[in-house]
Amino acid sequence: SRTRVGIVGAGPAGLLLARQLHRQGIDCVVLESRDRAYVEQRQRAGILEQGTVDALLEAGAADRLQREGLPHDGIELRFAGRAHRVDFPSLTGGRRVWVYAQTEVVKDLIALQLQEGPPLLFEAQAHAVEGADTDTPVIRYTHAGREHTLTCDWVVGCDGYHGVTRRAAPERTLSTYERVYPYSWFGILADAPPAYDELIYAHSGRGFALASMRSPQVSRLYLQVPNGTDPDGWSDERIWDELDTRLAAAGTRPLNRGPITARSVLPMRSSVTEPMRYGRVLLAGDAAHIVPPTGAKGLNLAAADVTVLARAFGHLAATGSTDLLDAYSDTCLRRVWRAEHFSWFMTTTLHTDPAQSPFDTRLQLSQLDRVATSPHAAAELAANYAGLPVG
Ligand code: FAD
Ligand code: DHB
Repeated sequence: SRTRVGIVGAGPAGLLLARQLHRQGIDCVVLESRDRAYVEQRQRAGILEQGTVDALLEAGAADRLQREGLPHDGIELRFAGRAHRVDFPSLTGGRRVWVYAQTEVVKDLIALQLQEGPPLLFEAQAHAVEGADTDTPVIRYTHAGREHTLTCDWVVGCDGYHGVTRRAAPERTLSTYERVYPYSWFGILADAPPAYDELIYAHSGRGFALASMRSPQVSRLYLQVPNGTDPDGWSDERIWDELDTRLAAAGTRPLNRGPITARSVLPMRSSVTEPMRYGRVLLAGDAAHIVPPTGAKGLNLAAADVTVLARAFGHLAATGSTDLLDAYSDTCLRRVWRAEHFSWFMTTTLHTDPAQSPFDTRLQLSQLDRVATSPHAAAELAANYAGLPVG
């Protein structure tokens, strides 16, 4: 079969792009290797920048987000036994973020797409993208035990960090820049009301901790742990005690405890592949770049990429010009590298590297004190966290 834009992967990037193209009358097909339930249950990000919310609104995919999403006007930093709030609107000219889980964004987009189109095939695994340097690139995939080909004008790889689309480009044409961190996040979901209205990022002598949430009834919590930690090796009590110890600061209270409903350990890595295009194959979201989670940029970068891309396809359809598609990689990479820097900064300022010296710890505390006492330093953090305009 044949389509204008073949999209590999139904994560947030692929689903939002399909919706944005559909709204402009541009024909596309989405292929997803996993089944619907798996894609909808996969626990990942939870923080949406205003720009991501705006993109979902514009795509007509934000009805439930507007009802159930929780606006957040700041975060709390805890370090050296102190608690300090960073206020976003006053530091950024009115920007804020929203708590609305990636699982919910994905459910909303899937429901819309299955109702209104374009075609979305689950359990359709792409194995290869061929002919990237021709006018008709082809996706080879397996669906219901049979081999198929989808012939496209353009292919967009939204297939995540382990995707296959990136391999459509000869290795010599791409450069990958990477950094691996010597720690992981142990994340839990708990049926317990969040103890605080805002997220708490804690630096401590025992490592980083983060108190987040999914709803007024569900807490999402993270602990820095060594790489290779077995999530089932910790009792519930040990997890809660460790969170309370790391999050403790003057004048604060402990977390509300409740049944832990999910636990997982995720390693941390920064990676960027350049350029984000080869011929008629473009990469978007985690397929092109990943960040360590501290600062919550991964999902937001994916949404920004496809928003730029949807505009470029719209421009092509309206004018016949590939100018915006030709500029796509450069346009996105500026924002990507800003987010890479911010995620690296948040990660290395808040975590304890097992090889870190007391000198390094003093530098981290000095930087955190600077954010707590200088409006300039706080404004820089707030602008990056709340998100830079999509351009
Ligand atoms: P993905 O969501 O990875 O979607 C890619 C899709 O492509 C998947 O559905 C996959 O099944 C499909 N696919 C892959 N290969 C093929 C193929 N060959 N054929 C067909 N389909 C294919 N960010 C945060 O901000 N905060 C967090 O707490 C956070 N936690 C995370 C935890 C984990 C375990 C991971 C992996 C990421 C986390 N992220 C987090 C990052 C954020 O979730 C991602 O940046 C975001 O999912 C990117 O969206 P995407 O659509 O680009 O990629
Ligand atoms: C969440 C994840 C993050 O990486 C972050 O910085 C804040 C919140 C979350 O999953 O809720």
